[in-house]
Amino acid sequence: MKTTIAEVGKFVGKEVTIGAWLANKRSSGKIAFLQLRDGTGFIQGVVVKAEVEEEIFQKAKSITQETSLYVSGIVREDERSPFGYELGITSIEVISESEDYPITPKEHGTEFLMDHRHLWLRSKRQHAVMKIRNEIIRSTYEFFNNEGFVKVDPPILTGSAPEGTSELFHTKYFDEDAYLSQSGQLYMEAAAMALGKVFSFGPTFRAEKSKTRRHLIEFWMIEPEMAFYEFEDNLKVQETYVSYVIQSVLKNCQLELHTLGRDTSKLEKIQAPFPRITYDDAIKFLHEKGFTEIQWGDDFGAPHETAIAESFDKPVFITHYPTSLKPFYMQPDPNRDDVVLCADLIAPEGYGEIIGGSERIHNAELLKQRIGEHHLDEEAYEWYLQLRKYGSVPHSGFGLGLERTVAWISGVEHVRETIPFPRLLNRLYP
Ligand code: 4AD
Ligand code: MG
Repeated sequence: MKTTIAEVGKFVGKEVTIGAWLANKRSSGKIAFLQLRDGTGFIQGVVVKAEVEEEIFQKAKSITQETSLYVSGIVREDERSPFGYELGITSIEVISESEDYPITPKEHGTEFLMDHRHLWLRSKRQHAVMKIRNEIIRSTYEFFNNEGFVKVDPPILTGSAPEGTSELFHTKYFDEDAYLSQSGQLYMEAAAMALGKVFSFGPTFRAEKSKTRRHLIEFWMIEPEMAFYEFEDNLKVQETYVSYVIQSVLKNCQLELHTLGRDTSKLEKIQAPFPRITYDDAIKFLHEKGFTEIQWGDDFGAPHETAIAESFDKPVFITHYPTSLKPFYMQPDPNRDDVVLCADLIAPEGYGEIIGGSERIHNAELLKQRIGEHHLDEEAYEWYLQLRKYGSVPHSGFGLGLERTVAWISGVEHVRETIPFPRLLNRLYP
């Protein structure tokens, strides 16, 4: 019976055949242990010299790392392995030999591994991170579909800049200038006026000269946008959504979290509602913690965010930032216009901001004024202004950065391991 590693549990005591690669191997004079992987999972194959033909035992001892194989064997339960099964190998057929595989079981430097990202993805750790990334995406679609949202795909080539003009990737669009999308938000606002509750999922680009463990040049964002949702409604969606994703990963990725050595007790606590702190109080808090240099009106750096996050065991919303720190489209607080109705969601354990969101300005005059104050080209925003002209309504939305979320949930230090082929300041290869 031909099957996959993920499915072997259905065949305990039976003989199966699996297409696999040799991930690693250990052998003595009498027994060989083959670590096999097939994409769906990892399993240990055992070849006992006394139980198989000599030719098979010799083959098992000589196979090189990453050689592709058809392996047959009897599925056995194995309590010692977290996977729960092993394969008592009866035959091995080599499909294609692999010579001098560069990523050996010894330690390699990060740059070396990044240069071999196309192969590094095969490792157990990277496999686990990609499976968790997939579960986050899957449960995101499930959550928003359950909640009555419609998936809408904004364009990637655009003529306008939602998040400020300094970090844009420029390209020629025949005779015109165009930019790679920094955020689909403005288009999602138009979509919300057509479909009510919408969400997008796609790549976004920031020509940011940041070289930190939280920054990618190309990253994937989930951007929900909701008509008739005000500031408070927006936060509710966010905390329910993030909790849902965490609980889905806990339910469906136990093996992967175990592979990564993730402390899952920390994730189990992540249930809505999440704590909140205003920007004003965050500044006071930081002063008390000894960050004396930060002043009202300054943006938070990573150490500030981490200090704030450390006093909570759930993600924390920092709300009501100064207007001057935020993009042009954010709705001012009705009680004081030096702050806006926005929130950043800061993940625990030092993973930083995973969501940025706000209520949007729905008054045409105010929006026009802000576009002017930010020195943006009004013509490029003509269509966006029209959304405020024809039946404008209060509306809100947010963007969740997928890679930072994957990093946090997986417990990996750097976002470069959370996307198959990271685009970094110094890296466009492979
Ligand atoms: O806070 P940002 O810039 O917000 C927006 O783009 C809004 N237009 C979203 C919206 O309201 N629809 O980005 C949102 C999130 C951040 O919280 C962060 O998680 C992630 O995107 N992000 C990055 N992730 C990796 N690398 C980068 N360079 C990132 N920049 C932002
Ligand atoms: Mg932000």
